[in-house]
Amino acid sequence: MDQQAVATLLTPEGWALLESLPPYDEHGAMALGEQLRRAGHAPELVSAALTQSRLRAAGERKFGPFAAGMLFTPAGLEQATRLPVAARHAARFATAGATRVADLGCGIGGDAMALAGLELGVLAVERDELTAAVATVNLRHWAEAEVRHGDATTTDLGDLQAAFLDPARRTSSGKRLLDPRAGSPPLSFALELAATMAAVGVKTAPGIPHHLLPDGCEAQWISVDGDVVEAGLWFGLAARPGVRRCALVLSDAGAAEVTDADMPVAVPGEVGAYVYEPDGAVIRAGLVAQVAVQVQGRLLDRSIAFVTADRYVETPLATCFAVEEVFPFGLKSLRTWLRDRGVGRLTIKKRGTAVDPDQLRKQLRLQGDNEATIILTRVSGRQSVLVVRPLRRAGAGVPA
Ligand SMILES: C[S@@+](CC[C@H](N)C(=O)[O-])C[C@H]1O[C@@H](n2cnc3c(N)ncnc32)[C@H](O)[C@@H]1O
Repeated sequence: MDQQAVATLLTPEGWALLESLPPYDEHGAMALGEQLRRAGHAPELVSAALTQSRLRAAGERKFGPFAAGMLFTPAGLEQATRLPVAARHAARFATAGATRVADLGCGIGGDAMALAGLELGVLAVERDELTAAVATVNLRHWAEAEVRHGDATTTDLGDLQAAFLDPARRTSSGKRLLDPRAGSPPLSFALELAATMAAVGVKTAPGIPHHLLPDGCEAQWISVDGDVVEAGLWFGLAARPGVRRCALVLSDAGAAEVTDADMPVAVPGEVGAYVYEPDGAVIRAGLVAQVAVQVQGRLLDRSIAFVTADRYVETPLATCFAVEEVFPFGLKSLRTWLRDRGVGRLTIKKRGTAVDPDQLRKQLRLQGDNEATIILTRVSGRQSVLVVRPLRRAGAGVPA
């Protein structure tokens, strides 16, 4: 999707053609293209419209039904914040009392749309010309949203008191950057804004090391359906008093959050009837102890993110497994255990052990019609095998 293709789509004929296309069907796309060309549409327009139709279909994953009225570039869609998360970002600014927010590096406008949707004025700045044009189209419904093509670090922000930044986190060769100092715009720029503005938010990679968390911010790790999608850093009025780290778990079942506002101490103890694997956002936020408290449990090991408890407690913050057996880890004993039970399919979960599951699976020479799930981990310092039965996935439905 280049500049020319977007320009073609923005002609009255181009837009009408795009809007007239049926829901995208990969298998029917060639035939549809042929039919449109035979009907007299220029091949470049047909190609641009079908590409955009495919991107809109892919965009539904992030934007739901709104994708059908949006424009995308492949890179812009990949980098865009999904709507439920963008809505949370926007809500921070609304709660902070902001009336106009700068979105500095707005991409195709995912976050800017959520801000505008809450009736906040938006100044969206994007340095890539094509992406800025796409954002302009996506923000067309909101009179209070302005898209400016330019470098955010040199844009005059006037008296704006609120800014959001979702810096590009890839090198020119496409490699992912974990360190927010290397993003564009860089973290240093965001920190300068945070020092002078009333409310600032920065989206960073979920793997941001804790030692890079700037002083005085609230860091929020968010997972969506089990995938940790970001760590947001919130400053000034966009941060909540008394919260430094928190994890927000979003799924079809709703939203659940733990914060460090009240930091319990979790101690390791004996394996109970259940093991809980905390959601990735909880682990990244370093808030496993909160899950232990919630399920009235204890850690399997002081340094490992598994919680064990004697009873089942419904929580969207962790996936629960019933413990069926526990024994010390050893290749021979594990192989014998599996062979005696005819286990041919084995799910291996591991934490705190160097074992390579694929290699182990080969060494176990699995045979039989039965299946099993094992957790390889340390229990109070000892390498152990826990044979478990999954009860539910974090955030999904009711216990099996
Ligand atoms: C991760 S994307 C933003 C995605 C956006 N939040 C969304 O939901 O659609 C980052 C964007 O920042 C832009 N960018 C990077 N450095 C910039 C700068 N100095 N000024 C303006 N835009 C910049 C990139 O071109 C890219 O489109």
